Amino acid sequence: MLTIALTKGRILKETLPLLAQGGIEPLEDVHSSRKLIFPTTMQGVSLVIIRGSDVPTYVRYGAAQVGVVGKDVLLEHGADGVYEPLDLRIARCRLMTATAVDAKPVVGKLRVATKFVNVARKFYAERGVQVELIKLYGAMELAPLMNLADEIVDIVDTGNTLRANGMEPRDTIADISSRLIVNKAAMRSHHRQVSALIERLSDAVNREMFSG
Ligand code: PRP
Repeated sequence: MLTIALTKGRILKETLPLLAQGGIEPLEDVHSSRKLIFPTTMQGVSLVIIRGSDVPTYVRYGAAQVGVVGKDVLLEHGADGVYEPLDLRIARCRLMTATAVDAKPVVGKLRVATKFVNVARKFYAERGVQVELIKLYGAMELAPLMNLADEIVDIVDTGNTLRANGMEPRDTIADISSRLIVNKAAMRSHHRQVSALIERLSDAVNREMFSG
């Protein structure tokens, strides 16, 4: 048996076509079902669909042998116990700092709101910028508007959310895309299945790349 842990939401929508190209399709519609585990068209392969921040945990402990997760999650929560053999080149975006368009220079400690506190701590420390990190779980763009923070660290894709809230991107911290991760022990115990999966997905990624 091989279990693949998938990140729900936008990443899932882009992951399913790639898996389908690799011959793996859930036996029922994952979007309309309340189930969390789905058997697939490939004998012995099932999918679990969970929050991105939980995917590395399932894979690290070997509950799932393989996972699909954003690089932002791997950077923030660490990638201990997992290999990251393939960039799936989907759900591409950037992890950036952003401020209000009319932001004034800050005197003293910069207040930064983000859910990526570990990434942000490292980023500002490397630049010698003193910050007070304020952990939020969503809607980071609201923080400067409400005078909770001077700056945010967040995912930027189209930039529409920033623009709609009078903000603009500043520095790029990292280019983000979804990655295939594999439990280190499973790379040996499930070698045949895992390497076949990596190969099929790698072919699918290449086909997508060359088809534009
Ligand atoms: C992300 C991010 C921004 C938005 C950026 O949130 O936190 O709010 O997308 O996209 P844009 O540049 O195209 O406007 P998401 O919708 O993934 O939800 P989340 O807050 O749960 O992460």
